[in-house]
Amino acid sequence: MSKALVTGASYGIGADIARALARRGHDLVLAARSGETVDRLAAGLESEHGITVRTLHADLAAEADMERVAEAVCDADILVNNAGAGLGMSFERTAWTQEQRMLMLNVVAPARLLHAALPGMLLRGSGRILNVSSVAATGPVWQGTTYGASKSFGLALTESLAYSRRLRASPVALTALVLGHTTSRFHEAAGIAPSPPLLTLASEYVAERAVRAIHQRRPPVVCVPSLRYKLIAGLLQHLPRRLLTLPGLADDFTTVACGDVDPGAGMSASAGGDGEHGVLAAEARGHGERQL
Ligand SMILES: NC(=O)c1ccc[n+]([C@@H]2O[C@H](COP(=O)([O-])OP(=O)(O)OC[C@H]3O[C@@H](n4cnc5c(N)ncnc54)[C@H](OP(=O)(O)O)[C@@H]3O)[C@@H](O)[C@H]2O)c1
Repeated sequence: MSKALVTGASYGIGADIARALARRGHDLVLAARSGETVDRLAAGLESEHGITVRTLHADLAAEADMERVAEAVCDADILVNNAGAGLGMSFERTAWTQEQRMLMLNVVAPARLLHAALPGMLLRGSGRILNVSSVAATGPVWQGTTYGASKSFGLALTESLAYSRRLRASPVALTALVLGHTTSRFHEAAGIAPSPPLLTLASEYVAERAVRAIHQRRPPVVCVPSLRYKLIAGLLQHLPRRLLTLPGLADDFTTVACGDVDPGAGMSASAGGDGEHGVLAAEARGHGERQL
């Protein structure tokens, strides 16, 4: 039986990825800030699937917690870098602490965990890494914010490592999961409007597709679990950028209502865990904005 570590496993896509891994009999380590929620999920998966599930209550935007999770990933056979959050506000309006936390969570923590997991996997000659990215990594979606840039990092790092000579010669495989709008707490937490139903994917569906992909003998380097989003990602990658200045073009899809968000919205558990994290950061309070 192999061990999989999933970050951001308390809600949404991460919780569904944990369920899909449990169905395949993997022992799990589930990391998130919402301690009670992730403990409840762990207990349910243990009794339903007869696996061992350990939980780590950790804020991945905080260095000490990140290091605790990095320690736990050293002997993992599967790493799922899923924890992430967006900021539905324009760059010039955010507090720097908010940007810093988002970059720690979306950029530094996945890189740190990958750095901790990879040597052991290469030594043992087996391992799978799934980095949850976004269609926002493929073009200027969420214009005026740093979210897309933060998700581009995981996509670029995955491709850079996966196509390296060292990794190509090894059975260890990396996959970037490029997602479009998916049902979860994500949009509420970021303070942005959800997409129309036609553009919304079910979290259970994308989780199952992603877990299936990493169980293939040769997993894809990039997995886009929807034809619609394959087309959208392809279009975004190749769209002449001057078209983005045409009035009304793709406004609904590519532009976050920067600055129009309700500063009080999105302060739910998904934005801050069960306990002390569900409060405004001191600096953010001055800006009337949310903490990640
Ligand atoms: N939903 C979408 O439309 C969409 C589209 C593209 C990409 N994605 C990506 O999918 C991933 C999962 O998001 P989701 O849609 O499932 O959103 P979600 O429902 O808000 O779940 C986010 C998960 O990340 C955890 N998390 C947030 N901040 C954290 C922190 N500081 N430390 C540790 N864990 C933290 C949350 O747990 P706690 O609050 O308990 O810590 C939660 O388990 C993210 O990387 C996101 O960027 C989502």
